[in-house]
Amino acid sequence: MTSSLAKIEDFPPDPVEFFKKILQEAAKGHPDGFMQEMNLATVDEEYGVLNRTVLYRGLTQDNCVFYITHRYVRNFKNLQANPKACITFYMPDVKDGAGNQSTWQEYGVLNRTVLYRGLTQDNCVFYITHRYVRNFKNLQANPKACITFYMPDVKDGAGNQSTWQVRLIGATAVELAQSEMDALWAKENLAAQIRGHICPCGEPINYDELKAKHDQFLQDHRGKSIERPASYTAWKFQPQRWDFLKVGLDQIADRVQYRLQKDGKWASMHVST
Ligand SMILES: Cc1cc2nc3c(=O)[nH]c(=O)nc-3n(C[C@H](O)[C@H](O)[C@H](O)COP(=O)(O)O)c2cc1C
Repeated sequence: MTSSLAKIEDFPPDPVEFFKKILQEAAKGHPDGFMQEMNLATVDEEYGVLNRTVLYRGLTQDNCVFYITHRYVRNFKNLQANPKACITFYMPDVKDGAGNQSTWQEYGVLNRTVLYRGLTQDNCVFYITHRYVRNFKNLQANPKACITFYMPDVKDGAGNQSTWQVRLIGATAVELAQSEMDALWAKENLAAQIRGHICPCGEPINYDELKAKHDQFLQDHRGKSIERPASYTAWKFQPQRWDFLKVGLDQIADRVQYRLQKDGKWASMHVST
């Protein structure tokens, strides 16, 4: 196992120019006509926060990201009632099982990409974080959350290609017991383990100083196991609704929703997009 520090080099003074450059790079791996998707999180009176995949339609003349919707859709109504929002673009080389998580606090809402780590024994989606990270603090202060999975290019048994969006709506985050953490920590790669010890998340850093700290840590721990920091933790999500959206090329999407009933059972139904 090895570990190193990523470094973002040569970024322009203007963020929009930087964004355009990354978009161009991301589009290269895709066929002509590819449209970039993004994740939009809004404040929702009923669910706290709600996020969903929408299509990035470009920049307005005043350099703002925009998307298109209908006035009858919940995301429109959410933004009309409370215009605070957060947008996350996820542009991987390889599309894997990354989920997009939304929380609610200082900025109204905040969403970010996190790694799906599987299901707990009681069938809840969970992810791993550190107690010093903003998403942990957000969920501690307000456990309402929404998770959106975006899975393009899913093939069914007959080889037909579809895009799926799976959402955990109106979810309550519950922290996993510390007794479960040792087994998860043991599976972390070296870079993740070192990060847990040396990175002050979200604070300005001097790259060279952090690199020196990292390299020293790596040298000191070569061949030794790395202790699990007390900050290492995980959250699972208990949703009120599971929302499955399926769409293929030139199709109107279909959605199936499972709604949790008072008796603890799921009622399933098609809902309109
Ligand atoms: C690839 C993809 C692109 C989508 N683009 C949009 C869009 O541009 N605008 C929109 O309102 N919904 C879009 N949707 C549907 C939303 O994800 C969502 O299901 C719908 O807006 C209803 O969500 P809401 O009730 O949270 O507002 C898209 C879905 C997928 C999978």
